[in-house]
Amino acid sequence: MRNYKKAMGLNMGGIAKISFCLTVLLLCWGPLLQAQEEFNYDESKVGAYTLPAVLELSSGRLVSGNKDWKKRRTEIIKLFEDNVYGKFPKKRSNIHFETLKIDRHALSGRAISKQVRIYFTKEKKQPYMDMILYLPAKVTKPVPVFIGLNFKGNQSIDGDSAIMLSEKHPELLKYTKAKEQQLIRGEQAERWEIDTLIGRGFGVASAYYGDLELDYPEGWKTGIRTTLKETLAIQPQEWSAISAWAWGLSRMMDYLETDQQVNKKQVIVTGHSRLGKAALWAGANDTRFAAVISNNSGEGGAALSRRWFGETINRINTNFPHWFVDRYKTYNNNATALPVDQHMLLALIAPRPLYVASATEDLWADPRGEFLSAKNAEPVYSLFHKKGLGVVDMPATDTSVGETVRYHIRTGKHNILLFDWLRYIDFANENLIKIK
Ligand code: GCU
Repeated sequence: MRNYKKAMGLNMGGIAKISFCLTVLLLCWGPLLQAQEEFNYDESKVGAYTLPAVLELSSGRLVSGNKDWKKRRTEIIKLFEDNVYGKFPKKRSNIHFETLKIDRHALSGRAISKQVRIYFTKEKKQPYMDMILYLPAKVTKPVPVFIGLNFKGNQSIDGDSAIMLSEKHPELLKYTKAKEQQLIRGEQAERWEIDTLIGRGFGVASAYYGDLELDYPEGWKTGIRTTLKETLAIQPQEWSAISAWAWGLSRMMDYLETDQQVNKKQVIVTGHSRLGKAALWAGANDTRFAAVISNNSGEGGAALSRRWFGETINRINTNFPHWFVDRYKTYNNNATALPVDQHMLLALIAPRPLYVASATEDLWADPRGEFLSAKNAEPVYSLFHKKGLGVVDMPATDTSVGETVRYHIRTGKHNILLFDWLRYIDFANENLIKIK
């Protein structure tokens, strides 16, 4: 033992010194490491961070024009695929549509509703998703449409008794009696404002995200990542729940392109929270979406990951391991190692109009991080001579700022409400409808 210690250059004093140093190290680093695993709501603790350069090619050369941006864009998509969301399959599968129901007197005659089943294989059977589309009744030309997935089944977006009940929503399946099922109609109607949108000349299309993949860690086993793995030639772990939901948004777009009453050049993809993350990823991959709206999408959506505020990569991966690819977990407590940050996701929307919205009480989603992310996407919009937020600091509450890139922070909780929709309508009118 003695010789061994001697050989190692150690004696009892040396061991004591080493243990002392280790203790000091642990005391200093321990809380820091632990702290970063936790979420933070204290602005003074955020600390400094450096964002990866959105306009620098992997070769180190700076992007100098649109052509270069195309290259950089491809690189960024690949980085998000490899490290965050997984692949977004290019193959559309053998998609086909069946209109199951048309109501020409929906919403007391103000709207037409169409319920369309989108089949993903040649057969007329599962897997499929059911989409509801409302269009203003009195339109003579194709209309702009807001599209977004919903959390609780199509019957949740409005009290309209013509909406077919979701076949997949687990809570709904618990209700076996028709009377019970009727009670949950319109459960999330405050989030959709269909009447207002119709009244302002817009269509609205929605589908239940669980039709693509149920939202729990094992959901992929019964969702499209498994049922379409041969058709799309992709293994379940090569993509993620968020990618599967985003892919579904593109399939809704496939239908909308075929509908004569829809202006396919004016389809705006929207999403709240986790579905806002999916809307951003869909908008990044599918440039048929004319504009993209992120409502309170937070971590893994619009908010910067390197900014230590609100939810962290570690927390989101722990609570929702299925949302991202496995590689994303290697960045738990190590956001600086990620080759991307979320401003680069927002930049992928350029030059198309982009709206990022936060809420004052939604600290979990890090409103400032969402604002700064939009701000840091601006250089890409500038390449296209498009105006971004036009401000350096966050705007006053309930005031929107910016042109092609726009931002607001609404008073209140994590939600999507009339206030938000009214801003989105103005945004669409100014950017897509009036200005050609
Ligand atoms: C959780 C999650 C968020 C997500 C939100 C939602 O709070 O941590 O990342 O945005 O759920 O989807 O409602």
